[in-house]
This record gives sequence, structure tokens and C-alpha cells, in this order.
Amino acid sequence: MLDKLNEIKKAALESLSFINDQAALEVWRVANVGRSSPLMQVFAEFGKLSKEQRPVIGAAANRVKVALESALEVKAQAVKNAALAKSLEEEKLDVTLPGRIVNIGRLHPSTQQLRHVLFILAEMGFQVYTSREVETDEYNFQLLNFPPHHPARDMQDSFYIEADPSTGSGRSEDNSILMRTHTSPGQIHAMREASATNPQNPPPIRIALPGMCFRYEQITARSEIQFNQVEGLAVGEGITFADLKGTLTDFVRRMFGAGARLRFRASYFPFTEPSAEVDVECFVCGGVGCQVCKNSGWLEILGCGMVHPTVLQNGGYDPRRYTGFAFGMGPERQLMLKNKINDIRYFWGNDVRFLEQF
Ligand code: DAH
Repeated sequence: MLDKLNEIKKAALESLSFINDQAALEVWRVANVGRSSPLMQVFAEFGKLSKEQRPVIGAAANRVKVALESALEVKAQAVKNAALAKSLEEEKLDVTLPGRIVNIGRLHPSTQQLRHVLFILAEMGFQVYTSREVETDEYNFQLLNFPPHHPARDMQDSFYIEADPSTGSGRSEDNSILMRTHTSPGQIHAMREASATNPQNPPPIRIALPGMCFRYEQITARSEIQFNQVEGLAVGEGITFADLKGTLTDFVRRMFGAGARLRFRASYFPFTEPSAEVDVECFVCGGVGCQVCKNSGWLEILGCGMVHPTVLQNGGYDPRRYTGFAFGMGPERQLMLKNKINDIRYFWGNDVRFLEQF
């Protein structure tokens, strides 16, 4: 019996020496000091022993039990220490490492320029009026004095959304739905809204109409299917072309610097009469002539004119009493000129290397 106890102890301690994790340790505990372990069997079979043997074997079995239990305790502590050391090693944190740089978001260059334009116009007393991007043919063309089949419509091949179901046609003369090709239809909305408040004496208007415009174009370095415009509109009694010239001269100086020179060049738009385009002296070469201004010394930046009497009428303003001026410009075009950007596709290409430069 004593030999058997020695066997048990030797085998148990040997197998314990190979253990190095918590789960295996628990298995060992059940197998070696658990209720049905060989050692506990010895205690169970005590009754079969003679009176003389009992104290001897009993004492020996107890010593084995104490030895195994204390060995288990020592091992358990060792396993725990090893696990802690391992997790400390694996989850090591180097607080001296430099932090990661957080990329700060920014406004899109078009938005920046759009806001710049609106800021200047606001200083000059123009209130922002936001109009819709989806329009009817009537507002986008007809009420702006583009009659059906007017050749000027060719300048603005449009994205039609829905043809008039009654005619089955998707084009001009009906009232199809389209993406606005310019911000000018907002003029009609704004005038109608204002004149509806007091049809006999409609109030004066001085507004800036910003927003996205859409044209059905081949996308190239020079043309995109979408772009922003900012439209200006002033309507009231006694407004003359001199007011238009003064306003735009002031605008250009605020935008391009106090010394900026500009010129008005006669042009044509169906919704203004007379119409003009404004050029600024090329700020790349100072007017001497370069690639950007194609050696002319001038850069075209906007279209303008006196609101056509028909358009005033369509807005609810009696053209015998009221006059007005309007202008329209493109923030992306201004940015391209200012920064010598030679490809308009950069604007909606979403390449951060481009966007980050603004
Ligand atoms: N709507 C014109 C365009 O998209 C721009 C324009 C020209 C607007 C003259 C105006 C204006 O208000 O008077 O090309």
C-alpha cells in the first residue's frame, strides 16, 4: 500500500510538471485529487485495512494528499503569473509613439468660392434666394423669353426627366420636367413670389440665386454636366444700366482687388435687353497676353443685362413702371481662372489630392 501511494505521488507530480495552462490544471486536479482519483480511492478502501495498518497508511496517504495539494497551489500561481506576463507582453502600449494625424475635413473648393461670391453680394445688399434644381420647361425657358424652337436653346441641351404624357414629346414646346440648365428660372419664382404679396405695388427685389445647374454635355476638360452658378437680380423703379455697371464694377473690385479693370462687351441673352458680358483684365499676365487669356489680355467672367420687359411681365412686374438688371456667373470658372486649373473635371472627380489644395 505504501508503494502504491508513492507511485501515485510520483506519477501525479510528474504529470503536473508538464502543465502550463489553466484548463489543463483543472483536468489534473480532478484526476489526481478529485473525488474519484486513485488517491481518494485509497481513503475509500480504508475499511479493508487491519487495525495496525490504518494509522500508518492513513498518515502516509494524508502526506501525499497535502503534497499534491500544495504542489497544485504552487503550479496554479505559476500558471497565473505566466498568463499575466503574456498578456502584458502582448498588450504592450508604447506611450512614446507619436499620435496619428487626424485629417481635418474642409469645404469643397466650389462651396468655398460660392460662399465667397455670396458674401460679397450680401455686403452689397443682395439676399440669398434658393430656387429649385428640377424645373419645368416653362420656367427654365419659356418665361425667360426663350420661345419654342428658339435657337438659344441649342446652347443648353438639357436633361429632361419626364416628357409631357399628353403630347408624348420630351422636348421644348410642351411642359416637360428637366434639370435646370441655369439659375435664371429662379428669377421668375422670386418675382412671382414677391409680386403675389402685393400685385398692385410689387416690392423691389435685390437677390442672389446660387446653385447647381445641369447640362447634357459631353464631359471634357472644358465642359461638365453639372456646375454652380450665382445669379443676381435687382428689380425696382428707376433702375438703369448705370446701376448694373456700378454694381458689377464694385463686385469685381471686391472679388479681384481694388485695382481690377473690367470691360462690358455687348452680347445676347433672350432674357435681357440690352445684354453684355463682363471681362476682367487677365490677372495671370496683367493684360499683356498669355495662355490663360488666349493672348487677349481679358477673361470673361459673367453675363448680364437689363431684365427683358417680357420677363418682368412674366414675374408680375409691370415693365412700364419697373426695370431691373440681372447677371449670372460660375464659381468653378472663377476658380479655374484664379488658380490656372485647366480641367473642369477635377471639381467632381473627388480626388483628395486636388481638393486638399483649397
Ligand atoms: N443664364 C445664363 C447662362 O447660363 C447666364 C446669365 C447671363 C444670367 C445673363 C443672367 C444674365 O442673369 O443677365 O449662360
